[in-house]
Amino acid sequence: MTDDVWGDEYRVVREAMDWAEARVVRETDPKTTARSAEELREAAGQTVCAEGIGGHAALRLFIDVLEPATRAQDDPMNLAYVPSAPTRASVAFDFVTSAANVFGGVWETGAGVIFAENEALAWVVQLLGWPRTAGGCFVSGGTSGNLSALVAAREAALARRGSRPAQGWQLACAGEVHSSVRAAARVLDVSIIEVPGDDRGRMTGASLEPVLRSHPDVFAVVATAGTTNAGLIDDMVGIADSCAAHGVWMHVDGAYGGAGLAAPSVRALFEGVERADSFIVDPHKWLFAPYDSCALLYRDPASARAAHAQNANYLDQIDRGSWNPADLAVHLSRRVRGLPFWFSLATHGTDRYAAAVERTLDISRTVAAAIRSSSHLELVCEPQLSVLLFRRVGWNPEAYREWSQRLAREGVILCLPTTWHGETVLRLAFVNPATKAERVIKVLDTLVQPAVSSSSVVV
Ligand SMILES: Cc1ncc(COP(=O)(O)O)c(C=O)c1O
Repeated sequence: MTDDVWGDEYRVVREAMDWAEARVVRETDPKTTARSAEELREAAGQTVCAEGIGGHAALRLFIDVLEPATRAQDDPMNLAYVPSAPTRASVAFDFVTSAANVFGGVWETGAGVIFAENEALAWVVQLLGWPRTAGGCFVSGGTSGNLSALVAAREAALARRGSRPAQGWQLACAGEVHSSVRAAARVLDVSIIEVPGDDRGRMTGASLEPVLRSHPDVFAVVATAGTTNAGLIDDMVGIADSCAAHGVWMHVDGAYGGAGLAAPSVRALFEGVERADSFIVDPHKWLFAPYDSCALLYRDPASARAAHAQNANYLDQIDRGSWNPADLAVHLSRRVRGLPFWFSLATHGTDRYAAAVERTLDISRTVAAAIRSSSHLELVCEPQLSVLLFRRVGWNPEAYREWSQRLAREGVILCLPTTWHGETVLRLAFVNPATKAERVIKVLDTLVQPAVSSSSVVV
């Protein structure tokens, strides 16, 4: 492993691989361990310098200082934000993906592995009930997936209409839409028309219809299949009807909840998604693959190519008749970030995947039942997928914050407060089939006690 530029890297490769292998199988801890940049600078010292500090020292720093200041997203008691629970097979294959170092932008350089990524995408297409001609590519996350889909939607509207509306394009979505959709609207310089939600904030066909009737400059509707805050699914059938009636592109953000398509017990909630024009789901959320990975799909990939294909003299040799992921999203150079997901699917099979999603739903239902039967806790919103929102009767925001931060520091559970209809409540997001419902319920039982500081307790 010696070369005349980098010298002998054998030892550092061996040590890094050994650590990585040990991490894949070791127990995790959900402790909140972030430190300030000043503290980290103090502990790490100067790491980048003219002579280098050497691979062994850099790895030691990572092991002793840097990695301990990160959070284990895959810990079974990490139920904050949207955690991530990759299979060991998928993580191992992430190393393989890096080692293979494929340029995944075009078929000519990445045919074999793009083929494999497309096999994984074809499974999602089948779950959606879309035609086999549908397809897409993997991008880094839901944010870039939503943006890329909306770029394609706007380009399609422009092609249909011939010119930009005098007052600019508009995008329709519910207030509960993920922040990345608002970010995409800013990037695209389009305005958002907020569609009123039902009592749980879900967009319905009835609330969308008058909006589309009175806003002819809407180029796309973003429906959410699994809101991040509450795990709720918009009325897909009604939205699809309305979009079809007005010739508007229907994009479905299933970044978190799209995994539910694989679970027979909730599949009916997605009815109507088969009529969408574009869809995203993040395997790094609830499909058991590591960061970073978002499956972006188009019913008609030609519309994506028309929007995204980059042209330059040095790119003239690309065969545009081949399946080039670079033509389908806002990117060119590209890691084959769908490959760990493909490997995991190929290893375990789609039945095991469906069972793992169902197991997570079962955990969520068991915890929800315990909350329902508790004297001191109340669900504030009837769950549809695997996110639970609940109140501790009598607590104020400070009490929630104290309880949540104390248990995060102690490494008991990561359960953060959020707001629901203006009220501070607690939120649990289940995506890890290794989470034990009984352990979570035991922790929730401790909520019966007053919060630590008496000033924060109302009852
Ligand atoms: C519904 C939804 N859409 C989009 C995103 C953004 O995804 P990412 O963080 O992968 O960019 C999230 C993230 O939680 C999400 O829950």
